[in-house]
Amino acid sequence: MSDDTFDEDSYLIEHADVLESVIQGHLASGRDHYERYGRLEKRSLRHHPRLGPGISPIDRARAMKEAIQLSEAIPGWCRGAEAKELFSQAYALADDPIIVEIGSFLGSSSVLLGNARRARGSGKIHCVDPFDCSGDSFSKPIYEKLAGNGLRQQFDRNIEEACLSDWVEVHQGAAELVAEYWRDPIDLLFLDGDQSPIGARVAYDAWSRFLKPNGVIAIHNSDPRIYAEDHDGHRRIVVGEIHSPAFGEIRLAATTTFAKKMA
Ligand SMILES: C[S@@+](CC[C@H](N)C(=O)[O-])C[C@H]1O[C@@H](n2cnc3c(N)ncnc32)[C@H](O)[C@@H]1O
Repeated sequence: MSDDTFDEDSYLIEHADVLESVIQGHLASGRDHYERYGRLEKRSLRHHPRLGPGISPIDRARAMKEAIQLSEAIPGWCRGAEAKELFSQAYALADDPIIVEIGSFLGSSSVLLGNARRARGSGKIHCVDPFDCSGDSFSKPIYEKLAGNGLRQQFDRNIEEACLSDWVEVHQGAAELVAEYWRDPIDLLFLDGDQSPIGARVAYDAWSRFLKPNGVIAIHNSDPRIYAEDHDGHRRIVVGEIHSPAFGEIRLAATTTFAKKMA
């Protein structure tokens, strides 16, 4: 492949170490790296599809780094590859998207979603949670230990400290009850509430019908593994529901299944 085919964004997407050096200010650009080292090192010049109109890999990587730092400072379960993917999916949405998160707890994953949209300049994150530490029998004692009393106040404080109050709207209540008054089509639906088979089914049935064609569903805690009793609700949803032709582009990042609703 000749130098003529060099594409700045593709080079930065292909080489995470170069992207990080550019963000840190050690290099002026991907081209700078290529001229000084990359050509000699025979670095790949593989072309990647555009991330989206007006999206640069540098802006996305900067915003993701900040979001992950904020998210990891709050107790939660969306970490590593699934946190990056959740952020990226939210970041990639077109203008003014509606994102619904079922199960927000202390706001660790809400911060990933909120930061992604703040970086893009539009959208709203709707956080649905009763904020009473309820849930399946495996999780309930863990929620109580981590959050104790005043879960809603702690959530609000975490969102405020992340400067996301204008990007997040809280719907305090159980998924199925909040769905009764919901009307809007959803661009990204993140299911992470009650993990019991019944609770996960109720939330899926109540909310998946609002997902737009081409909308993204993300189902946490749904990878193939052995689950504690009463904790495999999301796995059952993925096995039973997330298939072609209703869904496409199905993939797993850590424990979260991502899929696109087909038209
Ligand atoms: C696994 S935690 C969410 C973690 C959060 N998404 C994160 O990554 O940090 C599940 C949350 O859903 C809440 N929850 C339980 N039952 C629910 C229901 N029926 N509807 C909505 N949320 C529910 C739990 O109380 C808890 O706050």
